[in-house]
Amino acid sequence: FLYPVLAAVAGYLIGSLSFAVIISRAMGLSDPRSYGSGNPGATNVLRSGNKAAAVLTLVFDALKGYVPVLLVSLFGERLGLGEGTAALVGLGAFLGHLWPIFFRFEGGKGVATAAGVILALNPVLGAAALATWLIIAYFSRYSSLASLTAAAFAPFYQMLIWGTGPIVGALILMALLLVWRHEGNIRKLLNGTESKLGQKAGADA
Ligand code: G3P
Repeated sequence: FLYPVLAAVAGYLIGSLSFAVIISRAMGLSDPRSYGSGNPGATNVLRSGNKAAAVLTLVFDALKGYVPVLLVSLFGERLGLGEGTAALVGLGAFLGHLWPIFFRFEGGKGVATAAGVILALNPVLGAAALATWLIIAYFSRYSSLASLTAAAFAPFYQMLIWGTGPIVGALILMALLLVWRHEGNIRKLLNGTESKLGQKAGADA
């Protein structure tokens, strides 16, 4: 019981590293919470016009979900930790991104981190979720719509192909929280004011 809890807390602390803010600061850019959607995430950092910063944010926010889960999968067995703990650690990292202890609990929407978690929990599912994201993003140019669709489909993919288990539980929880965090995006999508991928902050109403 102790190890899974400790692992989940470690996941939460790692997830609390808000790379949109950290990388922007390191590269001398303005704080992503001060422009565009105000969200500390890769999509919004892209609105600064600095593609490298956006890519780095995406990669590091994904890695903070990927690495902790991978470590549990690789080394957890020796401590008697299985898939349930891996799912719990992933959830911890995801929650850290949404409510980061190091950033006054003002975090992001969890898309990149969830992608990293999913890729580590089940790489084939991760690839399916990424493909879903890419297809919707390509045709709609809306990052939020692509994320919402991929998050909503992921639990079904997992359930239909691999059956139920702790991973499905984690996927459902992440999807529910992710949709909730996108409330503003959903409203903008519905009234046609959501900004498209790559649109600069100035053009973002
Ligand atoms: O799904 C991408 C999401 O994070 C949207 O971000 O900045 O458009 O609210 P943003």
